[in-house]
Amino acid sequence: MAPRRKKIYEGKAKILYEGPEPGTLVQYFKDDATAFNAQKKATIEGKGVLNNRLSEFFMTGLANIGVPTHFIRRLNMREQLIRQVEIVPLEVIVRNFAAGSIAKRLGLEEGTPLPRPIVEYSYKNDALGDPMVSEEYIIAFGWANQQDLDDIVALALRVNDFLSGVFYGVGIKLIDFKIEIGRIWDGDFTRLIVADEISPDSCRLWDVKTGQKLDKDVFRRDLGSLTDAYSEVARRLGVLPANATNIKPTLIN
Ligand code: TMP
Ligand code: ASP
Repeated sequence: MAPRRKKIYEGKAKILYEGPEPGTLVQYFKDDATAFNAQKKATIEGKGVLNNRLSEFFMTGLANIGVPTHFIRRLNMREQLIRQVEIVPLEVIVRNFAAGSIAKRLGLEEGTPLPRPIVEYSYKNDALGDPMVSEEYIIAFGWANQQDLDDIVALALRVNDFLSGVFYGVGIKLIDFKIEIGRIWDGDFTRLIVADEISPDSCRLWDVKTGQKLDKDVFRRDLGSLTDAYSEVARRLGVLPANATNIKPTLIN
């Protein structure tokens, strides 16, 4: 059911609509999944509902420990009210263990612990396939300045510590994740806050005991049901009732 609102932007997994007040937007979570820069596509029933709830859970937790985010409140099953930000055109990736592109690039076995959390950046540009960029590039091309980057690293590492702890508490290892950063204006000053979403679409999550993957790699690598994996994450975090077997009858608003 498409709400009658002005669409501001449509991405691969979400749509942004005009919000009820200036400076706000409504973020709608679709069931669409893409991988490999949208070369692989599917509709995964229930994914949008789960990611809406999970992103709410993480953003609320971050706010509670003093990390600023764009999240204001959840509106319904698929929508949340957020602050309007100017997105910094970077994907900010934090890695604790080798997997995915770093494993390939450096010939590391997936799961190898990294000597310390590694923060890296990709330039958000689908046509170019989100290429990895250095701080030199970011500053030279004016996507962010040095002070912004210092703030971004500090935010990313706080998010990493928070998420790592929350996941470890429910038997899940946070291998890596991606966040996006939004810029807001406070008078003449700008401030950077966590934006976009935090969900199993943008994290790698492995069961501590079995190593089972509970994130979008299930879709990328055809490892089974993505809804089952995300439901398991939601159940462990208490976002879904413990006895829920299927999100449809149990996730009411
Ligand atoms: P990578 O190993 O493929 O570089 O991915 C690192 C992390 O970033 C992983 O948790 C998945 C996430 N990610 C996204 O959220 N969006 C993307 O477009 C890509 C490539 C990765
Ligand atoms: N989100 C990216 C895409 O659509 C890549 C990924 O997450 O693997 O295609």
